[in-house]
Amino acid sequence: MGIFALVTGRPGPSGFGSASTAEQVTEGVDASNLTAIVTGGASGIGLETARVLALRRAHVIIAARNIEAAKEAKQLILKDNLSARVDVLTLDLCSIKSVRAFVDSFNALDLPLNLLINNAGVMFCPHRLSEDGIELQFATNHLGHFLLTNLLLEKMKNTARTTGVEGRIVNLSSIAHVHTYKDGIHFDNINDRISYNDKRAYGQSKLANILHANELSRRLQEEGVNITVNSVHPGLIMTPLMRHSALLMRTLKLFTFWIWKNVPQGAATTLYVALHPKLKGVTGKYYVDCNEMKPSSYARDEKLAKKLWDFSNKLIDGASKS
Ligand SMILES: NC(=O)c1ccc[n+]([C@@H]2O[C@H](COP(=O)([O-])OP(=O)(O)OC[C@H]3O[C@@H](n4cnc5c(N)ncnc54)[C@H](OP(=O)(O)O)[C@@H]3O)[C@@H](O)[C@H]2O)c1
Repeated sequence: MGIFALVTGRPGPSGFGSASTAEQVTEGVDASNLTAIVTGGASGIGLETARVLALRRAHVIIAARNIEAAKEAKQLILKDNLSARVDVLTLDLCSIKSVRAFVDSFNALDLPLNLLINNAGVMFCPHRLSEDGIELQFATNHLGHFLLTNLLLEKMKNTARTTGVEGRIVNLSSIAHVHTYKDGIHFDNINDRISYNDKRAYGQSKLANILHANELSRRLQEEGVNITVNSVHPGLIMTPLMRHSALLMRTLKLFTFWIWKNVPQGAATTLYVALHPKLKGVTGKYYVDCNEMKPSSYARDEKLAKKLWDFSNKLIDGASKS
């Protein structure tokens, strides 16, 4: 899949390509036996992901920090699909306390969990620390999802074991993972203000999304667990994600309009990886335009993935104690 396929929308080996929509890639799929959590499901790609999962009859939990926006998203989905099963729960990924509270609230619902879509994200923010004292893009895009996934894993394993249905975890990464700091991840100065670069910090967090997916996939395979973990780049889509770089992105779009997608196309790769029967048993891979792609060499570095895993656990332990 190269630039020609991206521009023309020509399908790749999967039968889908950059022009495919979330509805097209899930045509005929019955997800009525599935429960899914979509983080950041109140806007952009996450909202379309939640809508199409509900259209395919999955029970969808929209996890959002802005609960009013999440309720509006639910109403929007119900407007065209009266039988949609959608619930909303509060989740602020840049707060360890909020992630733990979300998991408690979800567990209290006593639902199974088949699909976890780690979709929420922020991009190109000015330097800021989370309430736990961790750089905001790393805290939101990677660390919050890392903790959330770990806390939900027993539930997902139980669901997969008792139902015999494969669980799937999808991490929303980005092609921006290639534009990171030298050495990949700033382990020694993750919070440093002086060396902070908003673009590289975003790239670093998106690299972390792939490394997290790969290391978790490896661990689950070792355990023989029936859960797959993959990462995706959704394409370039104008969404509220661009709020910190609106002018830059609008200018970029003027000159590169032919490679931009709309939101239904932007959600296609997530939905393909989450629901398509062809992907049964496929794990530890990276998808772009609904086709497998090779990510950067850092993203394929197993030692880096293990180091990030330990580093993330230490950050969470440290923040939980203070
Ligand atoms: N759009 C693109 O071109 C593009 C390209 C590559 C990758 N991606 C990735 O795709 C994913 C979805 O992005 P999008 O384009 O759909 O952007 P979006 O519309 O801004 O969606 C991101 C969602 O994440 C939520 N979020 C942000 N911080 C959060 C926090 N601390 N806790 C919980 N939720 C939080 C946002 O909620 P609020 O509304 O409250 O901020 C929003 O609902 C992101 O991971 C992004 O990195 C997007």
